[in-house]
Amino acid sequence: MKDQLQAIEKEALEQIAQIETLKDLQDVQVTYLGKKGSITGVLRGMGKLSPEERPVIGEMANKVRESIQTNLAEKKEAIELKELEIQLEAEKIDVTLPGRPVRVGGTHILHSIIEEIEDHFIGLGYEVKEGPEVETDYYNFEALNLPKGHPARDMQDSFYITNELLLRTHTSPVQARTMNALDGEPIRMICPGKVYRRDSDDATHSHQFTQIEGLYVDKNVRMSDLKGTLDLFAKKMFGTDREIRLRPSFFPFTEPSVEMDISCKVCSGEGCSVCKKTGWIEILGAGMVHPKVLEMAGYDPKVYTGFAFGMGPDRIAMLKYGVDDIRRFYTNDVRFLQQFHEA
Ligand code: DAH
Repeated sequence: MKDQLQAIEKEALEQIAQIETLKDLQDVQVTYLGKKGSITGVLRGMGKLSPEERPVIGEMANKVRESIQTNLAEKKEAIELKELEIQLEAEKIDVTLPGRPVRVGGTHILHSIIEEIEDHFIGLGYEVKEGPEVETDYYNFEALNLPKGHPARDMQDSFYITNELLLRTHTSPVQARTMNALDGEPIRMICPGKVYRRDSDDATHSHQFTQIEGLYVDKNVRMSDLKGTLDLFAKKMFGTDREIRLRPSFFPFTEPSVEMDISCKVCSGEGCSVCKKTGWIEILGAGMVHPKVLEMAGYDPKVYTGFAFGMGPDRIAMLKYGVDDIRRFYTNDVRFLQQFHEA
């Protein structure tokens, strides 16, 4: 039996030396130390031994078992260490590699222009208002002195949802909405927002664009107030060296109506391709609020007067940054939009 145990130990240690995986290690453990393993088999046969032999063999069997156990434990540790090393090697991070840049979004240029204009007018005591993009025929046209069948409606063909509901063609309806919501109190408001027209898109037309409306109603508001306000605005947006010019124009909701030009920055009034050789660039429409518009919104035109203006941030952005095509603002080519963030 001694020989048998020695043979078992020798064989086991040889096998353990060759083990490479934890699975094989488990198998070897079962083969030698398990319930049906070789050592257990030897111990079971001890009943047949003489009482003198029994402790000797018992002690030897225990030693062999311990020797196998120790070897298995050492092997286990070695395998685990090796596996950990393999894993660490595989997951190695080179901290010296350059990082991947995080792409950060930014404010759309039209939005930046709108915020700039808002800041300017807030500084003058104006409130920023909002109105619905799906508008009624009444507010979009009628309340602005554009009754059904009025020829000036043709200039602003809309997308109709029903006969009475449409996508607003300008931000002017917010004038009437604001006045209607108040009870003859003075008003100083601007309203930025999206507007829609049934135009064919080209370099200067887009079926969707933005506008900013302005409205100032109080007692004794005069044309000179409008002129001063517009002059200040032009100098703020385009530079203190800009001049403004008001040309007579027509809008059904203002009387008199004007269009405001600024002197061309490129040629300083000499005439170039940007200003079409006139020295002036058209920026916005404005005028004194038509008495009928005041009256329809519940303001007594004998007591109150007001001025209004409407401008397009798209056009302002095009002029300010030399953008050649209005569609660039809406097709969202990141390469175009990014230029405005690289300070
Ligand atoms: N609503 C006009 C348009 O879209 C612009 C405009 C002109 C607005 C004169 C005004 C104004 O408030 O007084 O063409």
